Amino acid sequence: MPPTSMTTIRPAARVGRFSYAIRQVVAEAKKVEATGRPVRYLNIGDPNAFEFLTPPHLIEAVSRAMRDGHNGYTASAGIASAREAAAADFTARGVPVSADRVLITSGTSEGIELALSAIVDEGEDVLVPSPTYPLYTAVLAKIGAHPVYYRTDPASGWLPDLEHMAGAVTAKTRALVVIDPNNPTGAVYPEAVRRQLVEFAEARGLVILADEVYGDLGFDGPVPALAALAPEAAIISYSSLSKAYLAPGWRAGWMGVGATPRLDDALAAIKKLADGRLCSPGPMQYAVTAALTGDRSHQVTFRAALRERAALTTTRFNAMPGMEVVAPQAAFYAMPRVTLPAGRTDEDFVLGLLRARGILCVHGSGFGLPADGGYFRVVFLASPAELNAIYDDVAAYAQEFQSA
Ligand SMILES: Cc1ncc(COP(=O)(O)O)c(C=O)c1O
Repeated sequence: MPPTSMTTIRPAARVGRFSYAIRQVVAEAKKVEATGRPVRYLNIGDPNAFEFLTPPHLIEAVSRAMRDGHNGYTASAGIASAREAAAADFTARGVPVSADRVLITSGTSEGIELALSAIVDEGEDVLVPSPTYPLYTAVLAKIGAHPVYYRTDPASGWLPDLEHMAGAVTAKTRALVVIDPNNPTGAVYPEAVRRQLVEFAEARGLVILADEVYGDLGFDGPVPALAALAPEAAIISYSSLSKAYLAPGWRAGWMGVGATPRLDDALAAIKKLADGRLCSPGPMQYAVTAALTGDRSHQVTFRAALRERAALTTTRFNAMPGMEVVAPQAAFYAMPRVTLPAGRTDEDFVLGLLRARGILCVHGSGFGLPADGGYFRVVFLASPAELNAIYDDVAAYAQEFQSA
């Protein structure tokens, strides 16, 4: 039957509030590519897009699982061996949780979505760092809750400003998001700051969502788990195979809900929501077991490569006139700042750099910073030689931009 109605199908209003700049800038890059100019993508933190490939023993674990017929649904919380491996890994890091408090998720992303959806009601507030990884604000928009930004300060190496955080708490605040090591800044918080964050949340009855997806990528070695400071605190920790195990496309992660009985209802709520999505991809769950019980030597070379690229990035940006950057301590991101001419925004700079030089970064306002701050995020996973060539182009464009 031919269609009879002329009514356009209207998207939900919540989509208007939803934003994820890291992928949205790609649409602009595609337009530039369509003009024949190649684009170098420094927008997305995918080690596989560069020279850092998935360890063979993880690939073998997934292919063996498929060959052995593990292609059906799994239990919603995940296969027993992966939950046990994650529980043992948490415990080895000083966070004693049992396997029944662990869920295997479709990446850290699903952990974030499950935790926020299970705990935060419509109209309630969540403390989120500024700048933030944008999935937090995107999920909060989806569930009708509000992000309340707490400042992290470039002058102190992007550490959280506890005073600002205290002023941001309202009667409606439910949770504190801590991303450490941090995306987009590359910061690692010292133990004293971490203790203050835990004490802050505990004093106010807030649950901490501890995003530790870069926990093994500190340049000086793995960064301790936040919950290890206070295993009885209300902390939900999560991570995945995406970054430190070099398998982002597999969408395989895990979350551990702290052992305190104060989190029992939240755990039950998370499990209830997890039932509705059936399970995370089954064969990849076998790689979680392999990753957390097997050889991690790839991380040693990966961390060394990241340290070298971070040092190069820091030196190059700090040598550019009108540009500065705080040296990252972990992961593969840096957040330089360009001095903006009056009336210009961070997005003007980023889009100008893309169109003039074919280099794609993400503007700081995409991570919740003010658009007139001049910040933008660089992913430094490319080879040192390629990074040097890219930074030559960034420097040349920054001069044009600033003198225009
Ligand atoms: C801080 C942070 N959390 C979560 C994620 C999502 O990771 P996953 O691939 O595990 O879903 C990312 C990805 O870049 C991230 O940077």
